[in-house]
Amino acid sequence: MGNLRSIEWAAFRDLSPEEKTPYLGDNGRIFHTLYAQQFSRAQLDNLGRLATRIRGIAKSKEGMLFLKSLLTHKRAMLYFTQPSTRTFLSFCAATEILGMPHGEVRDRATSSELKGESAEDSVRTFSSYFDLIIMRSELGGLAERMAWVLSNADRPVPVVNAGSGKDQHPTQALLDVYTLQRSFERRGGIDGKHIVFVGDLLRGRTVRSLACLLSNYEDVELTFVAPPSLQMAREILDQLDAHGVSFRLTDELLSLLPEADAVYMTRVQDEWDEVSGESAAIDVSRYSLGRGELDRLKQDAIIMHPLPRRNEIAIEVDADPRAMYWRQMRNGMWIRTALIATVFGCEGEIEAYDAGTMV
Ligand code: NCD
Repeated sequence: MGNLRSIEWAAFRDLSPEEKTPYLGDNGRIFHTLYAQQFSRAQLDNLGRLATRIRGIAKSKEGMLFLKSLLTHKRAMLYFTQPSTRTFLSFCAATEILGMPHGEVRDRATSSELKGESAEDSVRTFSSYFDLIIMRSELGGLAERMAWVLSNADRPVPVVNAGSGKDQHPTQALLDVYTLQRSFERRGGIDGKHIVFVGDLLRGRTVRSLACLLSNYEDVELTFVAPPSLQMAREILDQLDAHGVSFRLTDELLSLLPEADAVYMTRVQDEWDEVSGESAAIDVSRYSLGRGELDRLKQDAIIMHPLPRRNEIAIEVDADPRAMYWRQMRNGMWIRTALIATVFGCEGEIEAYDAGTMV
């Protein structure tokens, strides 16, 4: 039910993400998933291993039927009031893999919010009918508030933040780390790697969450490449400093490419423009990858993107073996399945099944 029952809302809200972490679990188990900062290295390793186990089991019909039997007694609610393709569909697929029926609201206009109901009352309603709430909202902090409300309700229900405002996207960071784990499996893992983030780093919630998650790794080097007005926020840089993570800020991509082990591209997040057309005035042409840039990249580097893309990665790059973004997207389905299985304590059953089929 989560330890959030033991703290008042105002006291919880004012804690740092690290201080909030102990309140998000339930007897050592992940209950709410709200911020990247809540995950430890051990949890990241366990989730990655479980995701890989699940994808192996899912290769056979018998394995799929086993996975489908795990959570038939639970129901999930997908409350996505902000546009989404991959996050929404991969969560749908993840719940289906585990046999969990799901309900959805994708537009406030189809819910009682149109009659004036608050988002908070809406989400509270879901907790009467469902056992897991996966939510994406343009309102930063709503997932956190709902986690507190739902931990303190008669029927506590876990909340998964599937993207909150400009702030956090922790499950995208999980799938990004899973992609890095798999890509660098035979090269000593993520430790010691140089990850270059490119684009709108100010308003891109995926880069904020991933940068925080990478502070779990030894000797990683992060470089943030963006036009000055879209550079990474001080608050995240301070957190990296506090964890002793080495990072650089620059507005020059080309000279960095030969050093990168992974290049994480992002689109301009102009939906957050405060003045209409403000982003259009920023020259982002130097923050893109085409055939010319590929020649500068190491042979074993990888190119990532949370998607959707615009023109920051040319279509011709898709055919390059270093383009990882389509596989990254599929990794999202497996890591989200692993996360849900973990929240409901199915890891043991999955491990036992896997061990049984291997003998
Ligand atoms: C991202 C998001 O919603 O923050 N998309 C996603 O979930 N893969 C990135 C984006 O929209 O640019």
